[in-house]
Amino acid sequence: MTASTAPSGANKQPWVFCAVSDPDIKKRIRKEAEKIEYDAYTNKMSDEWKNDLERLRTNWKKEFLDTAPWIIVVFKKSYDIIDGQKKKNYYVNESVGLATGLLIAAIHNAGLTSLTYTPSPMGFLSQILNRPENEKPYMVIPVGYRDENAFLPDIEKKKEKEVIIFY
Ligand SMILES: Cc1cc2nc3c(=O)[nH]c(=O)nc-3n(C[C@H](O)[C@H](O)[C@H](O)COP(=O)(O)O)c2cc1C
Repeated sequence: MTASTAPSGANKQPWVFCAVSDPDIKKRIRKEAEKIEYDAYTNKMSDEWKNDLERLRTNWKKEFLDTAPWIIVVFKKSYDIIDGQKKKNYYVNESVGLATGLLIAAIHNAGLTSLTYTPSPMGFLSQILNRPENEKPYMVIPVGYRDENAFLPDIEKKKEKEVIIFY
């Protein structure tokens, strides 16, 4: 519910959160995602991108897609369909980004862990979850309890001085 309190352009709330726990659906999502990731890592990603990812140790394997108890697939709605009429939404990317940020904060506040996952392209998610034409996949958020044995990259956040400028 926290996510759906996010601000949005003209209060259109252009988002849908599909929460998936069904093991067969998760398995299908993983299978399609890994095909796309294998192609991305083998043929599409630049050396610079792969170098940037090296310290995070990501690769084409996405086991979290069927080991996490829940996968939340966030969809954005560039328009609504009301009484058969197309109704425009505004600042859709900004609005759905804010809602997804609140969702992640709420997940972490509840003591759970999540990952921000963006396979590209994402069209397979619309097909598997049978979503209508006006909804496009935006982000995948696997959610669960932290695996104590999982590898955690040694990353730091920028210091306050680097990101806040007072005038
Ligand atoms: C827009 C966006 C897309 C991301 N896509 C991926 C992804 O496809 N796969 C992945 O493993 N991590 C992905 N990440 C996670 C980032 O690598 C991660 O947020 C970053 O390294 C900082 O770590 P933290 O989220 O633990 O603070 C993405 C993050 C963002 C914000």
